[in-house]
Amino acid sequence: MATRVRQDVNKLPQWDPTLLWYAKAVADMQTRPFNDPTSWRYQAAIHGYQRDQDPFASDSDTLPSAADQRAFWSQCQHSSWFFLPWHRMYLLCFEAIVAATVVKLGGPAGWSLPYWNYSDTSNPNARRLPMAFFLPTLPDGSPNALNVSARAPNDNGDIGMTPAEVDIRCLADALFTGIADGGHPGFGGPKTGFNHGNGPTGALEKTPHGDVHVAVGGDSGLMSAFETAALDPIFWLHHANIDRLWQVWLNRLASHKNPADTAWLSAGNAKFQFHDANGQVQTYMPSQMLDTTNPLLGYQYEDTSDPLATGAAVSPHAAVGGPMGAVVQQPAELAGGTSAAHALANAPTTAQVPLQAGAASVRGAALTSAPVTRVYLNLENITGSGRPGGYGVYLNAADSANPPAQSDPCFAGTLPMFGVQAASGSDLLHQGSGLTYVLDVTSVVEHLKAAGTWDAHNLRVTFAPLRAGQSAPDLQVGRISLYYGD
Ligand code: C2O
Repeated sequence: MATRVRQDVNKLPQWDPTLLWYAKAVADMQTRPFNDPTSWRYQAAIHGYQRDQDPFASDSDTLPSAADQRAFWSQCQHSSWFFLPWHRMYLLCFEAIVAATVVKLGGPAGWSLPYWNYSDTSNPNARRLPMAFFLPTLPDGSPNALNVSARAPNDNGDIGMTPAEVDIRCLADALFTGIADGGHPGFGGPKTGFNHGNGPTGALEKTPHGDVHVAVGGDSGLMSAFETAALDPIFWLHHANIDRLWQVWLNRLASHKNPADTAWLSAGNAKFQFHDANGQVQTYMPSQMLDTTNPLLGYQYEDTSDPLATGAAVSPHAAVGGPMGAVVQQPAELAGGTSAAHALANAPTTAQVPLQAGAASVRGAALTSAPVTRVYLNLENITGSGRPGGYGVYLNAADSANPPAQSDPCFAGTLPMFGVQAASGSDLLHQGSGLTYVLDVTSVVEHLKAAGTWDAHNLRVTFAPLRAGQSAPDLQVGRISLYYGD
């Protein structure tokens, strides 16, 4: 069987057959009953399902059995080292279902999912929704199933997504799995069991992944929550790109490796089960997901070249040589943290973080001269309800009521709230401890030290909503802390 090529949607003509057939297949899947595993709604429920959030809930719904719902729904793996392999399995089965539907509708065999490369700096329109996803009709005048209204307001596909939200510096991370100790959580996420939002989020999962979700979904749209994200047809192209970035990261450097731990390769005792195009149950393990060109997967990406200018030099944490030359990370060291939760609002707010200037900052003191030392801002146990968007984070901003542009050196990064409600315990499947993000703020701290605005005893952290009108009635960051690490 020939290897399928997943194509760059921004390089396809507006109604390329790939997109036209996708639209027709989505419309067909939307006509299937909810308890059909190949239906549009069932496919989205695999990611997350909560009846009171289902925009299509109707008394005439035929739900799958409770046992089936438990086994197959709300399975998405977040804040976990299973984030990448689980979503790869999910896409694989979905792509096969769409491909079979295309054939059933009279189209060609071998349909493959395109990807949305919003980080492509050579294309000024890369951050806009691809055309086929906001046009009301297909060329024949029939309704376009790829266009959904429950998204952020957009002007001709322009959702106002900024470069910081599609930043791909995560590709420079040396390790797939970080240490969940306040230091870097790794490119692919920390070692966890079966997980749906608890503990630190991997670098790729945070940005661009989480940012793109909330930028597309806005305040109330489908893409902004686990339970509805996969109802938006753009979800699948977003995740194809995330899946592609995994391959780009692996290709970048020989030292970039997937975990070798059997707890990851065989997923421990967790069972990752999906339905294939025939509705048959398939059980997969991450060890089967390592090579996209193997016969089970059968695909490759149009472009997996390295988008970062240089190789190892830009790595945000140094690759320290361990046994057999393996890359290891030293435990991080706490420099200080808050003792009470900090409430976020729909206007900028600022938290004061007391720092210990003494012994705990030995590595911090050496910062300006020793490039091996990194500084990490931990934002733990972010909880809230609804679908708040994202926040920009600033350190020691001169005017904290009016923080500067994202290009300012005191800008530390974004905080996407994707999944915050599910992770806050409003859903019984989750552990309720909220989202935790770790930002590498080394260059920001270096800038503050050079500018003379660093205070060894106190750090001011400003959180500004990324978009006007964002609502966040009960959103809070449980703890804010600073760590020195490698
Ligand atoms: Cu499981 Cu983009 O989410």
